[in-house]
Amino acid sequence: MKKFVFENYNALSVYAAQYIVNEINSKPDYVLGLPTGGTPVGMYDEIEHMYKKGMVDFSDVKTFNLDEYLGLNKKHEQSYYYFMNKNLYSRVNVKPENTHIPNGMADDFAVEALNYDKQIKEAGGIDLMVLGLGPNGHIGFNEPDSELIAPTHVVSLTQETIKANARFFSSENDVPQKAITMGVGSILKSKKILILVSGESKKEAAAQMMSNKITTQNPSTLLQLHPDVTVLIDKAADSE
Ligand code: F6R
Repeated sequence: MKKFVFENYNALSVYAAQYIVNEINSKPDYVLGLPTGGTPVGMYDEIEHMYKKGMVDFSDVKTFNLDEYLGLNKKHEQSYYYFMNKNLYSRVNVKPENTHIPNGMADDFAVEALNYDKQIKEAGGIDLMVLGLGPNGHIGFNEPDSELIAPTHVVSLTQETIKANARFFSSENDVPQKAITMGVGSILKSKKILILVSGESKKEAAAQMMSNKITTQNPSTLLQLHPDVTVLIDKAADSE
């Protein structure tokens, strides 16, 4: 694991955007895995700036998002589709048919999950998976548990995650209880992984992630098994 520590969130976001732009410029038909949430917002803003300056072209880029809430349609302001459209798709020249998010309104989630992993495989696999880190160590919506599921699947969110995400909804009761997420196996199959960690609330989970112990009670610790992980962390989240 390579770790880069930043003075603040802004510096981390700019570096993350530059990292992604450099990757895309090295391979125009790049396959990007993407997160939602509070952490990547600054990165998406910076990607838009770079795109406007003509520094990157998304016309052949494919994207696969990590997860989606169950039961929220694309027009719901808290759906991850809505988030991605607002923060990335509408701001760059990515083709709608090249963007992928698990369907939280699918009739059959087992079929949806199988198809999602199949689509990733058919795209040639994910070149770079960008992740955020849950305060409880989750990656995607792979929550701490006695066992983890490798492929894309439906998951019940923990109370901690529902509480953490309530800030985006009118109340805690409005946060969906379930989501469909890439599994830890789908994530670890990516060729490279970039994880963004910002803020005091991530300190403990991040320290475990970078320790030499692996536990399903902190799913991010599994990233230690991957040969090419870069951690971008700000001082508020870093323990050293
Ligand atoms: C989002 C996702 C989650 C978030 C994590 C951190 O697609 O998969 O794992 O990355 O919950 O969220 P923020 O950035 O809001 O602290």
